[in-house]
Amino acid sequence: MAEDQRPIGVFDSGIGGLSVLKHLVRLMPGERFVYLGDTARVPYGNKSAETVQAYSLQCAAFLLQHNVKMIVVACNTASALALDVLRRDVSVPVLGVIEPAAAEAARATTSRMVGVIGTRATISSNSYARAIEQAAPDKNIIVHSQPCPLFVPLVEEGWLDTPATRLIAGEYLRPMVANHIDTLVLGCTHYPLLKPMLTSMLPDVRLIDCGECTATVAAEMNGPVDDEPITSTPSIYFYLTDNTPSFPILARQFLGISVNEPVRVSVDHLTLPHIEHEES
Ligand code: DGL
Repeated sequence: MAEDQRPIGVFDSGIGGLSVLKHLVRLMPGERFVYLGDTARVPYGNKSAETVQAYSLQCAAFLLQHNVKMIVVACNTASALALDVLRRDVSVPVLGVIEPAAAEAARATTSRMVGVIGTRATISSNSYARAIEQAAPDKNIIVHSQPCPLFVPLVEEGWLDTPATRLIAGEYLRPMVANHIDTLVLGCTHYPLLKPMLTSMLPDVRLIDCGECTATVAAEMNGPVDDEPITSTPSIYFYLTDNTPSFPILARQFLGISVNEPVRVSVDHLTLPHIEHEES
């Protein structure tokens, strides 16, 4: 565990953020995690920026009540639309998934043609294209973006590699393939579950998993750990805003391990403690 023994807070619009938590736990097995899934209000991916910001601030307020030392926004849509307000209003470091994945994509591409797939809200925010440009301003990377709204329900149905999923993926990816992308950012927490299918459809394209990239940055931010032996079961406290019957099955799929019974909570009445902002 790092010197600061407070838990790490993680939130997502639902259970998709478990694909990010999986990598956080892998890289920081000695840490305690508090995971909040806003399952009562999922999906965020087709909501307005104002709504996603309001929900994200309430999720952050819940995590701060648990005395977290940092917040990982394990949701691309919330990272795209709410990271700035979270960073402005939250008193602990806040890490989104877009900057780490964009930096990795900018490093990885050699053809300088990068594809990004995500929810409608993430893609129309243009956050990935901006972050990729910022990560490598001299590389002149061209970003081809594509919303893939059908992927989230397909993954939640467990249709990870069926003829129907391949057909839809083929439609979504055709323009990017025609543009010779060599790198594809999986800009939604559900998409890493489609990796085996996407790898077989795009064998020459490097797939960027935002959870993997974000966990690497989070571990760096968390700092060095002591040499205490690690317990075999990760220490994760699960909270959901609605208890969906499919949670245990989906959680196992996303996280790779069985999880404790989640606690149902309500966050829609929460507000953040006031922070004094310096006048600029
Ligand atoms: N977690 C969301 C994301 O990564 C996908 C699900 C949703 O639309 O809320 O964008």
